[in-house]
Amino acid sequence: MFNTPFVLSFALLLSFPLLFLLAPRILPPKHVQISLPDELDDLALFRRASLASLHLANDNHYSRLPRHHIRLGSTNPSLAKPKIAFLFLTNSDLHFAPLWEKFFANRSSNLYNIYIHADPSVKINPPGGVFEGRFIPAKKTERASPTLIAAARRLLATALLDDPLNFYFALISQHCIPLHSFDFVYHSLFTKPLSESSDSAPTLSRIYRSYIEILSDEPQLWDRYVARGEDAMHPEVPFDRFRIGSQFFILNREHALLVIRERRLWRKFRLPCLNVHSCYPEEHYFPTLLSMEDPGGATHYTLTRVNWTGSTDGHPHTYRPVEVWPQLIQELRVSNSTYSFMFARKFSPDCLTPLLDMAEKVIFRD
Ligand SMILES: *[C@@H]1O[C@H](CO)[C@@H](O)[C@H](O)[C@H]1NC(C)=O
Ligand SMILES: *[C@@H]1O[C@H](CO)[C@@H](O)[C@H](O)[C@H]1NC(C)=O
Ligand SMILES: *[C@@H]1O[C@H](CO)[C@@H](O)[C@H](O)[C@H]1NC(C)=O
Repeated sequence: MFNTPFVLSFALLLSFPLLFLLAPRILPPKHVQISLPDELDDLALFRRASLASLHLANDNHYSRLPRHHIRLGSTNPSLAKPKIAFLFLTNSDLHFAPLWEKFFANRSSNLYNIYIHADPSVKINPPGGVFEGRFIPAKKTERASPTLIAAARRLLATALLDDPLNFYFALISQHCIPLHSFDFVYHSLFTKPLSESSDSAPTLSRIYRSYIEILSDEPQLWDRYVARGEDAMHPEVPFDRFRIGSQFFILNREHALLVIRERRLWRKFRLPCLNVHSCYPEEHYFPTLLSMEDPGGATHYTLTRVNWTGSTDGHPHTYRPVEVWPQLIQELRVSNSTYSFMFARKFSPDCLTPLLDMAEKVIFRD
């Protein structure tokens, strides 16, 4: 015979695991948070990438000029050419894969690598060609959550680890298109005049700076800052150090390493937002970090054109096929900086056909 208190406590004990099982269904739906196992998994990856790069630095591979000056068009085979790592961050099919395929067509894989982070909870038709086998171990991503920062860092770490010649790291989404040919992009990034830097022995990252937008006087900045609560960002990120910028950047290797080694700001930026309408952590983490750690090493502008005119619900203008004419490409390239825009977003998937139609004659002619 069992006495009642025993049965009761036994039932209570039994109900605990049940509660854990059912809690996610009973409680109101929460935004995806980064679980401890996922966080530890990422940390292990970042650590591996960081250590591998340390060994590289000790070999003096990328450290200081002019010993191993990266050179374009060099015929000396011992001077390997630097590569661009294209980091595709997506939660749907890569609609413009055929256009990117043309972008990369016949370009030597000595000059670039491709990495794709695709949300594993979404069924994606794997693109072939240059994208084949380029998917990296991915975790769930969601808008208005720090998961987009985590995914970008995962891409950076994987690319850092994969190829020591990856020098620039360009983050691209499935809605992005190229505005120029591969050769144009490559040459623009790697033929900066040496005279731009005044250091006597400048590091490569001073000459080949990162292209990341860093803005400080946007009207929405305060709302974004307090999205996790009034004092949530203190003391690591005082309001006057908080920055905003486009999520899509091109970082150099030194800054890619800086980002994956960083823990202090991440502890703040990974906190969930109380106000999801002001919650775009990926537009703040990278510009704030770069602006704090190495403002002189970044251009403060992006090479990815976005049209914010008439934006709705945090989404920029999405181009439709009727708007896709050669003139649009010409217009989108024009920037206020020394550089032409290299990429643009957002385009609806059905823009693929008109874009392909003018790929050779317009987009890749420059
Ligand atoms: C790329 O190479 C293929 C075959 O090697 C050739 O048919 C095609 O015309 C080339 N495309 C370009 C853009 O050079
Ligand atoms: C930006 O989008 C608006 C519509 O929201 C459109 O009228 C305008 O032409 C677009 N600008 C460019 C440069 O495409
Ligand atoms: C260039 O600057 C002008 C004036 O500040 C601004 O109106 C325009 O939108 C800028 N164009 C781009 C492409 O950023």
